Amino acid sequence: MTETTLRLPVEKTYAAEIEALRGVDGARPPGWEMTPRAVVTYLLGGEANGTEITAKYVGDRRLIETAVATLATDRALLLLGVPGTAKSWVSEHIAAAVTGDSTMIVQCTAGTDETQVRYGWNYAQLLAKGPSREALVPTPLFRAMETGKICRLEELTRMGSDVQDTLITVLSEKMMPIPELNDAVYAARGFNIIATANDRDKGVNDLSAALKRRFNVVVLPLPSDMESEIRIVTKRVGEMAQSLDLPLPKNAAEEIARVVTIFRELRGGETLDGKTALKAPSGSLSTAEAIAVMVGGLSHASFFADGSLSAESLAPTVLGAVVKDPVQDKAVLAEYLETVLKKRRDYSDYYSEMSGMV
Ligand SMILES: Nc1ncnc2c1ncn2[C@@H]1O[C@H](COP(=O)(O)OP(=O)(O)OP(=O)(O)O)[C@@H](O)[C@H]1O
Ligand SMILES: [Mg+2]
Repeated sequence: MTETTLRLPVEKTYAAEIEALRGVDGARPPGWEMTPRAVVTYLLGGEANGTEITAKYVGDRRLIETAVATLATDRALLLLGVPGTAKSWVSEHIAAAVTGDSTMIVQCTAGTDETQVRYGWNYAQLLAKGPSREALVPTPLFRAMETGKICRLEELTRMGSDVQDTLITVLSEKMMPIPELNDAVYAARGFNIIATANDRDKGVNDLSAALKRRFNVVVLPLPSDMESEIRIVTKRVGEMAQSLDLPLPKNAAEEIARVVTIFRELRGGETLDGKTALKAPSGSLSTAEAIAVMVGGLSHASFFADGSLSAESLAPTVLGAVVKDPVQDKAVLAEYLETVLKKRRDYSDYYSEMSGMV
């Protein structure tokens, strides 16, 4: 991994902060590289031995404390929430802080089978030498157990229930049998699992009661108020603009406030003043999408316009985020434009751009 890498794992990007936090004294759970308090500081921001720690997650401290405390027990952590509530983001950062490695990750899909969760075989080796440790292909879960790291399971509920249940032995016995070798791998200290799942998706497979009992669930919410949502979007857009080498225009804050207002009103089903009821579109209109809309707009503004953000650059991406169902959502948006934005003088540019598109 070099400077030409598109995106480094967060333990590399924030290496200096992690190093400073590792120096903080205090009791550590076995296998942890920093104290649970330092992990929370890493996520929420603060200071460690004179080094400023930036905030990675904006939200309730109690939630993050519960998540971190869970990992110090024999239960695994399940981060649940609607799409775009920073589940993967939090899981990556916690893994980086606790064990210095966020890369042991299994993306669970409907096609994930046991060999992608437990271990597979290198068939050339298997034929040449028969079943042996050399012929065994370890999965990220297997390697996390061996090395005492955190394994991240993304979208846990997308894989079949029978495959999910292979985790039960791992979570309750902290070992994985390898019957072919008459052997087993025993988890080293520090090993645990962070799974994420979203509760909006279609085609998910519920966790069995046996597996559910082995996870502590922490629900990550959408930001409760306008200010925190603006803060999250501003922070992430600034960071992403920097990493993409896109200049951030002066009026970014103003446009972020306007886009977040539109998102919050449509998502909540009423105007911010609570006076007009609205229909909500089918998509989730998460904070993550607001971030994506702003970054898309920035790119358009810097390559196709004079660089400053305007409704002209942002309206098409706002439209793309709102209209997920071409018939139903278009009607929802048209109604919002006519009943709300048309009457607001400071949104006349959004109104005219978007009403031409729906
Ligand atoms: N409260 C928050 N604090 C900081 N960043 C946030 C917050 N909410 C959302 N984000 C940002 O949203 C982006 C998307 O988050 P992420 O991909 O982790 O969502 P997710 O919950 O895993 O969604 P999905 O269910 O679609 O996988 C990240 O860049 C993250 O920084
Ligand atoms: Mg995710």
